[in-house]
Amino acid sequence: MSPYAHIAGWGMYAPARVLSNQDLEHMVDTTDEWIRSRTGIVERRIAGEKESTATMAVEAARRALARAHLSPRQLDAIIVATISPDHLTPATACLVQAALGADKAAAFDVSAGCSGFIYALSLAQMGITAGEWHSVLIIGAETLSRFVNWEDRNTCVLFGDGAGALVLTASDQPGGVLACVLGADGSGADLLVIPAGGSRMPASPATLEQHAHTIHMDGRAVFRFATHILPEAVEQVMRKAGLPLTAIDMVIPHQANMRIIEAARKKLRLPEEAFFVNLYRYGNTSAASIPIALCEVADHGLINDGSLVVLVGFGAGLTWGAAVVRWGVALPQPARPWWQRALYIARLAFGRLPAFLRRLLYRLWQALPSRRDEE
Ligand code: ACO
Repeated sequence: MSPYAHIAGWGMYAPARVLSNQDLEHMVDTTDEWIRSRTGIVERRIAGEKESTATMAVEAARRALARAHLSPRQLDAIIVATISPDHLTPATACLVQAALGADKAAAFDVSAGCSGFIYALSLAQMGITAGEWHSVLIIGAETLSRFVNWEDRNTCVLFGDGAGALVLTASDQPGGVLACVLGADGSGADLLVIPAGGSRMPASPATLEQHAHTIHMDGRAVFRFATHILPEAVEQVMRKAGLPLTAIDMVIPHQANMRIIEAARKKLRLPEEAFFVNLYRYGNTSAASIPIALCEVADHGLINDGSLVVLVGFGAGLTWGAAVVRWGVALPQPARPWWQRALYIARLAFGRLPAFLRRLLYRLWQALPSRRDEE
């Protein structure tokens, strides 16, 4: 019998710096009233100078692993969903893997816009139910503040930074991720794009001057796409799970715009309390928005064991995805003596030490005079 993929741990990280709508009024030609009424956003978080997508992902991951009582060395795979990676290469997931000391885990990124986290969830579920992986860490993390043109009022008011993580583990108990649907329509690729910095338009002084390394978006077109695809994806995934819409306890949609969420809710004829919204505090954190929202839902006790939760996202690509989860941590939590718990916390805190030592040894080896002579 194939195992089920259960959510065993969750964790989020939001940077400390808050950027309010009032702050933005001093930066571009906008008003708090416009932003609130057109989007629902009141404030967003902005990463500090020393923070990046990887550092925020690591913080969220540590919290998720601690809740799952899992050591990073037990992970089989780490998948990071992001459109604002630390580098074009290597994958941000590899930086996370080294920082955690998860030396048995495969690590790779997924780029599917704001649907990226659902894509990562679906991959993790497939790996677990196929029997290939036992424990998988999936993270949605973004530092979009570094990819926004702070002079463009059409986009800079929308986005924020943060990270959310889930640990999924195999269990024979029915439940966990019941069904996923994924989709894409590349004919809408130009609707939300960072034009430069890739192979088509390499970085140059001209691309910098044109702000071509920042997000360019046709907001109205994305809005139309989102209001149509969000309810459709929910219907599709519930059909795939063989469940009626009335069985849904909580929908956690991608947090882009209150008006998009409200239109989808009305189309699905679900009550207001069935949709979780926190975008007024974080803005649109792209691939991080669904896991951050899920963490808040779980931490505030808004779902219980047995609750049926639907996660649904849409975004650049264009892409979309939805997942149905039967919530409930089905994993036995073994009682551990104090020293094992202390060792576990130390491992989480000093996880990056082995990778650091390996790098140091490698550099020393490279610096040896005999090696230089050989070369
Ligand atoms: N402050 C004041 N006025 C503004 C601002 C602003 N911050 N931004 C735009 N305006 C102006 C426009 O210039 C326009 O003026 P005009 O009529 O004189 O040309 C007017 O407001 C109306 O602009 P619209 O684009 O029609 O505004 P709309 O009501 O559609 O709201 C918004 C714009 C919020 C961007 C909306 O279209 C939207 O949310 N779209 C979806 C975006 C989205 O979800 N993107 C993320 C996808 S996820 C991912 O993969 C990253």
